[in-house]
Amino acid sequence: MEQHLPRQLLELIKYISEQAVRHEQRVYLVGGIVRDLLLEDPSLRSGLRFDVDLVVEGDAVRLAQQVADTGQAKLLAHHRFGTAKLSYGDFTLDMATARKETYARPGALPAVTPGTLKDDLIRRDFSINAMAISLSSHDYGELVDPHQGKTDLERHLIRVLRTESFSDDATRILRAVRYEQRLGFELETQTARLLKRGTAMLDTISGDRIRHELELVFGEEQPELAIRRLAKLGVLHRISPFLKGDGSIAERFGKARRLKRPTQLPSLYFCLFIYAFGESELGQFLGHLNMPAKLSHAMRDTLRLKNTLWLLDRSSLKPSEVYYLLQEYDTLAIEANAIASESSMVHRYLQLFLTKLRYVRTSLNGEELKRLGISAGPEMGKVLQILHKARLDGEVNTKADEKKLALSLSLES
Ligand code: CTP
Repeated sequence: MEQHLPRQLLELIKYISEQAVRHEQRVYLVGGIVRDLLLEDPSLRSGLRFDVDLVVEGDAVRLAQQVADTGQAKLLAHHRFGTAKLSYGDFTLDMATARKETYARPGALPAVTPGTLKDDLIRRDFSINAMAISLSSHDYGELVDPHQGKTDLERHLIRVLRTESFSDDATRILRAVRYEQRLGFELETQTARLLKRGTAMLDTISGDRIRHELELVFGEEQPELAIRRLAKLGVLHRISPFLKGDGSIAERFGKARRLKRPTQLPSLYFCLFIYAFGESELGQFLGHLNMPAKLSHAMRDTLRLKNTLWLLDRSSLKPSEVYYLLQEYDTLAIEANAIASESSMVHRYLQLFLTKLRYVRTSLNGEELKRLGISAGPEMGKVLQILHKARLDGEVNTKADEKKLALSLSLES
């Protein structure tokens, strides 16, 4: 911890641990951060991600309030769930009262009651995520690992803690593969068997939860690895029979990374993910996953454009023709098609639009046109359109050219 966590976080953790001792509570670092500390994950060292989970044997919300009172943090407490989030500049601390969970039926949200650290660890998904580090002064820094998570880390295995794990919460099917592929691990034999058997349980969870898991997959460095594996395991087919995880996905996702900044990638991945769909299949998929309106629009546009790409498969198109064909489409849809299209000519036109044509503007504005004697209203609209088209096609290149053209147009009318 001393080596890998930033100083401010360490100081805070020590302060929390002192407060906990004063109130006779015990606090532990749990989940992903423990796993990553043991792995000495480089992303920890570069300080890129610091979502830190703490479990409190006691009252997490009260403890979080005490910590928040000392200053700098923003507190968001959920008394009903016994959880609180403290947000600092570079990291967030999620504090939760140790809990015991029971599932009334597969796919249902669990019933939660206060419990011990042991209860809290056994309810978790995989052994590598079910370890804790004590923050109490008498055993500060000691690993609590009742399910041999450290051994599994060393053996590179993803292993569930209970046979019902996937049926209790089928999102874990996607989580298992995400960790397996991120870490270069393997599903332990029995876990792989349970996962395949549990695939049908994906029908028990809401589309929102499936979408969220896919968003997490698309947040990975190389999501195509998880997508390919999910396809092999029959998971994609269960989510939608039309989803594919073949080689073209890997190639397209790789191209997407060269084109976009990481924060913008997940939406583009979604557009590429459904590229082989028909429009009605996409409608079903969007409805099932309850996709947000903006992204749904981009995904629909992706297919609409795919079906009209043949119009761009001609060598003699003027830039303005390319512009008018493409201007109504969502930028993501154009990017997805630029990546997926197999015709080099189509690709060139799409790139031309993305890098140049969409930014082309006239130099003259309405006020300046008025001064040239062109009246506001439909006439001016028409002149502006002609100037824009001439700019696109390189027939005018300067403001003076535009003036000349505008004057000639007004003389004509
Ligand atoms: N968890 C779980 N079952 C789930 C989701 C989460 O048991 N369906 C537990 C795991 O112990 C996990 C912890 O909650 O470690 C926190 O979940 P999350 O923030 O999603 O994952 P991290 O472990 O922090 O991993 P990462 O952010 O690196 O994916």
